[in-house]
Formats: sequence, structure tokens, C-alpha cells
Amino acid sequence: MFVYGTISIETYLLFMKDKVIVVTGASSGIGEATALLLAKHHVQLVLMARREDRLNFLAEKVRNLGAKAMVVAVDIADRAAVAKAFETVLNHFQRIDVLINNAGLMPISFLDKLKIDEWDRMIDVNLKGLLYCVAGVLPSMKEQQSGHIINVSSVAGRRVAPGFAVYNATKFAVTALSEAMRMELTPTSNIRVTVIEPGAVATELTLTITDVDILKAFSQPSGLKPIQPDAIARAIEYALLQPENVNISEVVVMPSSER
Ligand SMILES: NC(=O)c1ccc[n+]([C@@H]2O[C@H](COP(=O)([O-])OP(=O)(O)OC[C@H]3O[C@@H](n4cnc5c(N)ncnc54)[C@H](OP(=O)(O)O)[C@@H]3O)[C@@H](O)[C@H]2O)c1
Repeated sequence: MFVYGTISIETYLLFMKDKVIVVTGASSGIGEATALLLAKHHVQLVLMARREDRLNFLAEKVRNLGAKAMVVAVDIADRAAVAKAFETVLNHFQRIDVLINNAGLMPISFLDKLKIDEWDRMIDVNLKGLLYCVAGVLPSMKEQQSGHIINVSSVAGRRVAPGFAVYNATKFAVTALSEAMRMELTPTSNIRVTVIEPGAVATELTLTITDVDILKAFSQPSGLKPIQPDAIARAIEYALLQPENVNISEVVVMPSSER
């Protein structure tokens, strides 16, 4: 019989049953893979991103896997819209158990290209948008004295590289913020906080890059083989499956081909 640690597969799949889990950036890549993996646990998923058609398509798949799904189309950089989105979710479910703060973008460029609109957008989505989502769950999680917030940072939140400056800055901020959130919220309010730091993952993330020199560098053979997004989904699942008194603070998941 398959066991996960000392738990049978039947118990393992019931561990998260009916939990209300918000996944931002669910319309592709890591967010989509996470929603599909968590759906097998018969949870109640709230799928957030801007591309509603993709979310609706995913919601159907999630329902076919035995989970419930609610679609909320929102730009997480829009503070008022995010507040309204979380209000809608809370009115519907009365609680949020887990926030997977995953939405982000990476239009990286060399600083002297002065792609200031792209700098702004990364700060607005990767950092400020993530914080708006924290604000969306914090009061209710504090009141229920339970919850789990998973922030998706990056290995780019641990080490810098030329061309990644502003993306690095946003992800370093998310990593620092996550540790501060854990210290402030976990011991006193029983809100667990995990930061996930992926290396290269095969998703749409590089599609927003407009700097031709970065694109040229990316097109050179490097030996780096990005991993599939479900590898990150499994790390998220691992953090979520711990007993209530166990907080997984930080998980780095990289391709074995990455330095
Ligand atoms: N792929 C990697 O190698 C890698 C490595 C380390 C960390 N990460 C991090 O992983 C997270 C997920 O990225 P991914 O790799 O899965 O890339 P992806 O496939 O491009 O997914 C990004 C997601 O974020 C959403 N998003 C972007 N801007 C948004 C906005 N303003 N409002 C709401 N949602 C928005 C996108 O949905 P819509 O466009 O529909 O809004 C999409 O669902 C990001 O935070 C990224 O920084 C990725």
C-alpha cells in the first residue's frame, strides 16, 4: 500500500478536503499546475489572474478532478479591485484557509535600456500586488486564528545577476517579506508562512521580455534544462500537508542542471 510518511493514501487525500485555497496567477505555469495538483485533494479552489477564458478552462478541469472551483478575474496590481475580489471570495466561502501568492512577471532588461514602465510593472505586480493579496486575507485569517500564506519568490530572490536587477529587487523583497511575515504572524496568529524559491521552470514567464540583448543571451545554448511546473506544485503541496504545528519556512527547487 502507498504511504506518505506514515499516512495512508486515503487519509493523505482527505487532509486538505474542502479547504478554501486562493491561487493567484492560476491561468498558466506554476499556478495552473498547483491548482491541478491540489484539485486531487478535493479542495475548494479560487482561481485568480487576468485571463478569464484560461481560468474558466482550468476550472472545468479542476471540477473534473473532484474539487470545487471559483473563477475571479482580477489584475492584482489594482488595489481596489483586489480588495473587492477578496471580499467576494470571503462572502462566498466565509473563510480562506490558504493563499498561494504566485502571480508575477519577469520582463528583465539591462538597466541602461531604461525600461522604466517594465520596472514599474514588476514592482506593481511582484511586490505590491502580492502585498494587496496578503491584505485581502490577513484580517479573516487573524480572526480565525489559522491560515497559510505561500509566497512564490525565486532563486532570483537569493542571488543577483546582471540583467535581472529589478526582478531581483522584487524577489529579494518577497523573500525578506516572507520571513518577516512568518515572525509576525505564525507564533501569535497561527498563520503559517512559506516562501518557495524556484529555479528555472518551463512556463510563459519569459514571454514578457522585450530587451533584445537579454533575448539573444537566452537563445544561446547553456545546458540549463528548465523543470516542469508540477515540480513546484509538489513543493507547495508538501508545505501544505504538514501538521498545524509545523511551518515550512523556505523551499528552494531547482533543476539539477542549474548552477
Ligand atoms: N518560471 C520560472 O522559471 C520561475 C522561476 C522562479 C520564480 N518564478 C515565479 O513563479 C511565479 C509564476 O510564474 P510562472 O513561471 O508560472 O509564469 P507564467 O506562466 O507567466 O504565470 C504567471 C501568472 O501570473 C499571472 N499574472 C501576471 N500579471 C498579473 C496581474 N497583473 N494580475 C494577476 N495575475 C497576473 C498570469 O496570469 P494573467 O496573464 O492571466 O493575468 C499568470 O497566470 C511568478 O511569481 C514568477 O516570478 C518563476
